[in-house]
Amino acid sequence: MQKPLTGKTALVTGAAGPIGWAACQVLAEDGCDVIAADIHAEGLEGENIRALVLDVSDPDAVKAAAGQVGQVDILVNNAGVLSNHKSAGTTADEWRRVMSVNLDGAFYLSQAFLPGMREKGWGRIINMASLAMKVGGITAGTAYTTSKGGMAALTFSLAREVAAEGVTVNAIAPAYVMTPMVSEQLTEEQRQKILGDIPVGRFCEPEEVVHAVRFLVSPLAGFITGEIIDINGGLHFD
Ligand SMILES: NC(=O)c1ccc[n+]([C@@H]2O[C@H](COP(=O)([O-])OP(=O)(O)OC[C@H]3O[C@@H](n4cnc5c(N)ncnc54)[C@H](O)[C@@H]3O)[C@@H](O)[C@H]2O)c1
Repeated sequence: MQKPLTGKTALVTGAAGPIGWAACQVLAEDGCDVIAADIHAEGLEGENIRALVLDVSDPDAVKAAAGQVGQVDILVNNAGVLSNHKSAGTTADEWRRVMSVNLDGAFYLSQAFLPGMREKGWGRIINMASLAMKVGGITAGTAYTTSKGGMAALTFSLAREVAAEGVTVNAIAPAYVMTPMVSEQLTEEQRQKILGDIPVGRFCEPEEVVHAVRFLVSPLAGFITGEIIDINGGLHFD
Protein backbone atom coordinates (compact mmCIF):
# COMPACT_ATOMS: atom_id res chain seq x y z
CA MET A 1 0.00 0.00 0.00
CA GLN A 2 1.28 3.47 -0.84
CA LYS A 3 2.33 5.55 2.14
CA PRO A 4 0.14 8.63 2.75
CA LEU A 5 2.86 11.24 2.16
CA THR A 6 4.74 9.60 -0.73
CA GLY A 7 6.23 12.23 -3.03
CA LYS A 8 6.08 15.00 -0.42
CA THR A 9 9.02 16.85 1.07
CA ALA A 10 9.12 17.98 4.69
CA LEU A 11 11.48 20.28 6.52
CA VAL A 12 11.71 20.00 10.30
CA THR A 13 13.65 22.57 12.33
CA GLY A 14 15.19 21.76 15.70
CA ALA A 15 15.59 18.27 14.28
CA ALA A 16 18.47 17.38 16.60
CA GLY A 17 16.18 17.56 19.64
CA PRO A 18 14.02 14.61 20.69
CA ILE A 19 10.73 16.09 19.41
CA GLY A 20 12.22 17.26 16.11
CA TRP A 21 13.93 13.94 15.49
CA ALA A 22 10.78 11.99 16.31
CA ALA A 23 8.92 14.22 13.80
CA CYS A 24 11.53 13.45 11.13
CA GLN A 25 11.06 9.74 11.74
CA VAL A 26 7.25 9.65 11.49
CA LEU A 27 7.27 11.85 8.38
CA ALA A 28 9.87 9.61 6.75
CA GLU A 29 7.87 6.51 7.76
CA ASP A 30 4.82 8.05 6.08
CA GLY A 31 6.72 8.43 2.82
CA CYS A 32 8.18 11.96 2.94
CA ASP A 33 11.64 13.01 1.93
CA VAL A 34 12.71 14.76 5.11
CA ILE A 35 15.17 17.60 5.59
CA ALA A 36 16.35 17.59 9.19
CA ALA A 37 17.44 21.16 9.96
CA ASP A 38 19.20 22.27 13.10
CA ILE A 39 21.97 24.60 14.14
CA HIS A 40 23.76 21.36 15.11
CA ALA A 41 22.58 19.06 12.31
CA GLU A 42 25.75 17.04 11.86
CA GLY A 43 24.91 13.32 11.64
CA LEU A 44 21.14 13.77 11.34
CA GLU A 45 20.73 11.17 8.64
CA GLY A 46 18.35 8.25 8.23
CA GLU A 47 16.28 6.49 5.62
CA ASN A 48 14.84 9.35 3.50
CA ILE A 49 16.24 11.89 6.00
CA ARG A 50 19.04 14.33 5.16
CA ALA A 51 20.67 16.91 7.40
CA LEU A 52 20.73 20.67 6.90
CA VAL A 53 22.76 22.97 9.11
CA LEU A 54 20.64 26.07 9.64
CA ASP A 55 20.36 28.86 12.18
CA VAL A 56 16.66 29.70 11.95
CA SER A 57 17.18 33.08 13.60
CA ASP A 58 19.30 34.30 10.67
CA PRO A 59 17.03 35.57 7.87
CA ASP A 60 19.79 35.46 5.25
CA ALA A 61 20.67 31.88 6.18
CA VAL A 62 16.99 30.91 5.90
CA LYS A 63 16.75 32.49 2.43
CA ALA A 64 19.93 30.73 1.33
CA ALA A 65 18.64 27.39 2.69
CA ALA A 66 15.32 27.82 0.89
CA GLY A 67 17.20 28.46 -2.35
CA GLN A 68 19.23 25.31 -1.80
CA VAL A 69 16.35 23.06 -0.72
CA GLY A 70 13.65 24.24 -3.17
CA GLN A 71 9.96 23.79 -2.45
CA VAL A 72 8.74 21.85 0.57
CA ASP A 73 5.20 20.60 1.17
CA ILE A 74 5.40 20.36 4.95
CA LEU A 75 7.18 22.69 7.36
CA VAL A 76 7.51 21.89 11.06
CA ASN A 77 8.72 24.96 12.97
CA ASN A 78 10.04 23.14 16.00
CA ALA A 79 13.39 24.81 16.78
CA GLY A 80 13.23 26.47 20.16
CA VAL A 81 15.21 27.61 23.14
CA LEU A 82 13.89 27.67 26.68
CA SER A 83 14.65 30.24 29.32
CA ASN A 84 13.09 30.10 32.73
CA HIS A 85 13.78 33.63 33.96
CA LYS A 86 10.73 35.66 34.91
CA SER A 87 10.65 39.34 33.90
CA ALA A 88 12.84 40.61 36.75
CA GLY A 89 15.68 38.30 35.74
CA THR A 90 15.43 38.52 31.95
CA THR A 91 18.20 40.47 30.22
CA ALA A 92 17.65 42.27 26.92
CA ASP A 93 20.03 39.81 25.23
CA GLU A 94 18.09 36.81 26.55
CA TRP A 95 14.79 38.33 25.42
CA ARG A 96 16.14 38.91 21.90
CA ARG A 97 17.77 35.46 21.66
CA VAL A 98 14.61 33.61 22.70
CA MET A 99 12.37 35.69 20.43
CA SER A 100 14.75 35.40 17.50
CA VAL A 101 14.89 31.60 17.57
CA ASN A 102 11.37 30.75 18.73
CA LEU A 103 9.32 33.38 16.88
CA ASP A 104 11.42 35.17 14.24
CA GLY A 105 12.72 31.81 13.00
CA ALA A 106 9.22 30.39 12.50
CA PHE A 107 8.27 33.54 10.58
CA TYR A 108 11.34 33.49 8.31
CA LEU A 109 10.84 29.80 7.48
CA SER A 110 7.12 30.21 6.83
CA GLN A 111 7.74 33.23 4.62
CA ALA A 112 10.40 31.34 2.67
CA PHE A 113 8.35 28.20 2.02
CA LEU A 114 4.76 29.42 1.76
CA PRO A 115 5.09 30.67 -1.85
CA GLY A 116 5.97 27.13 -3.03
CA MET A 117 3.04 25.64 -1.10
CA ARG A 118 0.63 28.21 -2.52
CA GLU A 119 1.91 27.57 -6.01
CA LYS A 120 1.22 23.84 -5.58
CA GLY A 121 -2.13 24.45 -3.88
CA TRP A 122 -1.17 22.14 -1.00
CA GLY A 123 0.88 22.65 2.12
CA ARG A 124 1.09 22.11 5.85
CA ILE A 125 2.79 24.25 8.48
CA ILE A 126 2.98 23.06 12.08
CA ASN A 127 4.29 25.42 14.74
CA MET A 128 5.55 24.03 18.03
CA ALA A 129 4.03 26.35 20.63
CA SER A 130 3.73 25.47 24.33
CA LEU A 131 1.25 25.26 27.18
CA ALA A 132 3.32 28.11 28.68
CA MET A 133 1.56 30.66 26.47
CA LYS A 134 -1.88 29.71 27.83
CA VAL A 135 -1.03 29.65 31.51
CA GLY A 136 1.58 32.39 31.77
CA GLY A 137 4.42 29.90 32.07
CA ILE A 138 4.42 27.64 35.15
CA THR A 139 8.18 27.11 35.25
CA ALA A 140 8.87 28.76 31.85
CA GLY A 141 10.12 32.33 31.84
CA THR A 142 8.69 35.54 30.38
CA ALA A 143 10.61 35.59 27.09
CA TYR A 144 9.80 31.95 26.31
CA THR A 145 6.15 32.29 27.25
CA THR A 146 5.76 35.45 25.16
CA SER A 147 7.55 33.93 22.16
CA LYS A 148 5.12 31.01 22.19
CA GLY A 149 2.15 33.38 22.45
CA GLY A 150 3.54 35.11 19.38
CA MET A 151 3.70 31.77 17.66
CA ALA A 152 0.01 31.21 18.27
CA ALA A 153 -0.78 34.59 16.71
CA LEU A 154 1.54 33.79 13.80
CA THR A 155 -0.35 30.53 13.33
CA PHE A 156 -3.72 32.33 13.21
CA SER A 157 -2.45 35.07 10.91
CA LEU A 158 -0.85 32.69 8.39
CA ALA A 159 -3.80 30.28 8.57
CA ARG A 160 -6.18 33.04 7.56
CA GLU A 161 -3.86 34.32 4.84
CA VAL A 162 -3.55 31.00 3.00
CA ALA A 163 -6.72 29.10 3.93
CA ALA A 164 -8.20 29.35 0.44
CA GLU A 165 -5.06 27.95 -1.19
CA GLY A 166 -4.92 24.41 0.15
CA VAL A 167 -2.42 25.27 2.86
CA THR A 168 -3.19 24.70 6.54
CA VAL A 169 -1.30 26.26 9.43
CA ASN A 170 -1.71 24.78 12.89
CA ALA A 171 0.15 24.63 16.17
CA ILE A 172 0.76 22.13 18.94
CA ALA A 173 0.99 23.23 22.57
CA PRO A 174 2.80 20.51 24.52
CA ALA A 175 3.79 20.58 28.15
CA TYR A 176 6.59 18.84 30.00
CA VAL A 177 7.85 16.48 27.33
CA MET A 178 10.71 14.23 28.43
CA THR A 179 13.54 16.03 26.60
CA PRO A 180 16.55 18.01 27.90
CA MET A 181 14.16 20.95 28.47
CA VAL A 182 12.68 18.88 31.29
CA SER A 183 15.54 16.56 32.23
CA GLU A 184 18.24 19.28 32.29
CA GLN A 185 16.56 22.68 32.53
CA LEU A 186 14.35 21.95 35.53
CA THR A 187 15.56 21.20 39.05
CA GLU A 188 14.66 17.88 40.65
CA GLU A 189 12.38 19.77 43.02
CA GLN A 190 10.54 21.44 40.10
CA ARG A 191 10.20 18.08 38.33
CA GLN A 192 8.67 16.40 41.39
CA LYS A 193 6.25 19.27 41.96
CA ILE A 194 5.14 19.31 38.30
CA LEU A 195 4.77 15.54 38.23
CA GLY A 196 2.40 15.77 41.18
CA ASP A 197 0.37 18.43 39.37
CA ILE A 198 -0.05 16.62 36.02
CA PRO A 199 -3.38 14.75 36.20
CA VAL A 200 -2.15 12.00 33.85
CA GLY A 201 0.64 11.43 36.39
CA ARG A 202 3.69 11.33 34.13
CA PHE A 203 5.70 13.40 31.66
CA CYS A 204 4.87 13.37 27.94
CA GLU A 205 6.97 11.40 25.44
CA PRO A 206 8.26 13.00 22.19
CA GLU A 207 6.46 10.29 20.17
CA GLU A 208 3.14 11.45 21.63
CA VAL A 209 3.77 15.01 20.44
CA VAL A 210 4.65 13.98 16.91
CA HIS A 211 1.56 11.79 16.70
CA ALA A 212 -0.26 15.15 16.46
CA VAL A 213 2.15 16.28 13.72
CA ARG A 214 1.31 13.12 11.79
CA PHE A 215 -2.41 13.81 12.22
CA LEU A 216 -2.21 17.47 11.17
CA VAL A 217 -0.15 16.84 8.04
CA SER A 218 -2.46 14.08 6.86
CA PRO A 219 -4.32 14.85 3.63
CA LEU A 220 -7.55 14.20 5.57
CA ALA A 221 -6.78 17.05 7.99
CA GLY A 222 -7.25 19.69 5.28
CA PHE A 223 -10.30 21.24 6.98
CA ILE A 224 -8.36 21.93 10.20
CA THR A 225 -6.51 25.23 10.15
CA GLY A 226 -5.65 27.85 12.77
CA GLU A 227 -6.02 25.17 15.46
CA ILE A 228 -3.81 24.66 18.49
CA ILE A 229 -3.71 21.10 19.76
CA ASP A 230 -3.05 20.81 23.49
CA ILE A 231 -0.91 17.93 24.71
CA ASN A 232 -0.60 18.57 28.41
CA GLY A 233 -1.76 15.54 30.37
CA GLY A 234 -4.75 17.45 31.72
CA LEU A 235 -2.76 20.33 33.26
CA HIS A 236 -5.04 22.80 31.52
CA PHE A 237 -8.42 22.55 29.78
CA ASP A 238 -9.85 25.16 27.44
N1 LIG B 1 10.24 19.63 26.05
C1 LIG B 1 9.13 20.25 26.45
O1 LIG B 1 8.64 20.01 27.54
C2 LIG B 1 8.43 21.21 25.54
C3 LIG B 1 7.18 21.71 25.95
C4 LIG B 1 6.52 22.61 25.14
C5 LIG B 1 7.07 23.00 23.94
N2 LIG B 1 8.28 22.48 23.56
C6 LIG B 1 8.84 22.95 22.30
O2 LIG B 1 9.15 21.86 21.47
C7 LIG B 1 10.23 22.23 20.60
C8 LIG B 1 11.30 21.15 20.66
O3 LIG B 1 11.77 21.07 21.99
P1 LIG B 1 12.65 19.90 22.58
O4 LIG B 1 12.10 19.61 23.92
O5 LIG B 1 12.87 18.79 21.61
O6 LIG B 1 13.95 20.78 22.86
P2 LIG B 1 15.48 20.58 22.53
O7 LIG B 1 16.20 21.69 23.22
O8 LIG B 1 15.90 19.19 22.82
O9 LIG B 1 15.50 20.80 20.96
C9 LIG B 1 15.47 22.05 20.38
C10 LIG B 1 16.35 22.00 19.14
O10 LIG B 1 16.34 23.30 18.55
C11 LIG B 1 17.64 23.55 18.08
N3 LIG B 1 17.90 24.96 17.93
C12 LIG B 1 18.10 25.88 18.90
N4 LIG B 1 18.38 27.07 18.36
C13 LIG B 1 18.34 26.90 17.01
C14 LIG B 1 18.56 27.76 15.91
N5 LIG B 1 18.88 29.06 16.09
N6 LIG B 1 18.44 27.26 14.66
C15 LIG B 1 18.14 25.95 14.47
N7 LIG B 1 17.94 25.09 15.48
C16 LIG B 1 18.04 25.56 16.74
C17 LIG B 1 18.57 22.94 19.12
O11 LIG B 1 19.87 22.70 18.59
C18 LIG B 1 17.81 21.67 19.47
O12 LIG B 1 18.25 20.57 18.69
C19 LIG B 1 10.70 23.61 21.06
O13 LIG B 1 10.15 24.62 20.24
C20 LIG B 1 10.11 23.72 22.46
O14 LIG B 1 9.93 25.06 22.85
C21 LIG B 1 8.96 21.60 24.33
